[in-house]
Amino acid sequence: MAKWIAVLLVAVLALVVLTWLIRPGHMDIEGSHHMGAARGLSKAMTSTAMAGVADGEPIVTPRLPAALSERATMGKRAFEAKCQDCHGEHAAGRKGAAPPLVHRIYEPSHHADFAFVLAVRNGVRAHHWPFGDMPPVEGLTQADALAIAAYVRELQRANGIGVN
Ligand code: HEC
Repeated sequence: MAKWIAVLLVAVLALVVLTWLIRPGHMDIEGSHHMGAARGLSKAMTSTAMAGVADGEPIVTPRLPAALSERATMGKRAFEAKCQDCHGEHAAGRKGAAPPLVHRIYEPSHHADFAFVLAVRNGVRAHHWPFGDMPPVEGLTQADALAIAAYVRELQRANGIGVN
């Protein structure tokens, strides 16, 4: 009898330790666990942070940079024209439509600026979020997409993403 209680205790303890180890944000997302860590983050978003957000509402509340560079200002204009309907004002996301780009998943070491060019050119197959595929976006040059990336980077940095 005592033996079974001991076994049960060890099992519970193992579960607690495991839960602690795999909790979102614990893993080193700078490391080689790109996909796993990113999935962990997006799961955290969908299951917790996003739970209280109504459809169509922003998913995060970005701090805004005091000023934007000239390039980012151009990017902002293109973003507002072509991306904002889905990705939300200030790239804060729009629940039911598209994720916030001001999010650690999209920091430069995970999604380089060229990911913006590819997303615009080819669209994006749904993989991090439950919002379906992103269709290709017409009418933007590669330079436009890179300017949008510059805008998103400046927003990200104002929120501590991709700094240092
Ligand atoms: C019709 C809605 C829609 C529009 C318009 C849209 N997106 Fe997206 N975008 C999405 C969705 C949905 C995802 C998330 C896909 C996933 O990972 O599940 C996404 C993902 C992305 C990603 C991440 C790509 C990756 O490699 O994971 C980038 C970058 C991006 N969008 C940039 C843009 C830019 C720039 C524009 C405007 C030029 C834009 N999007 C317009 C819906 C949209």
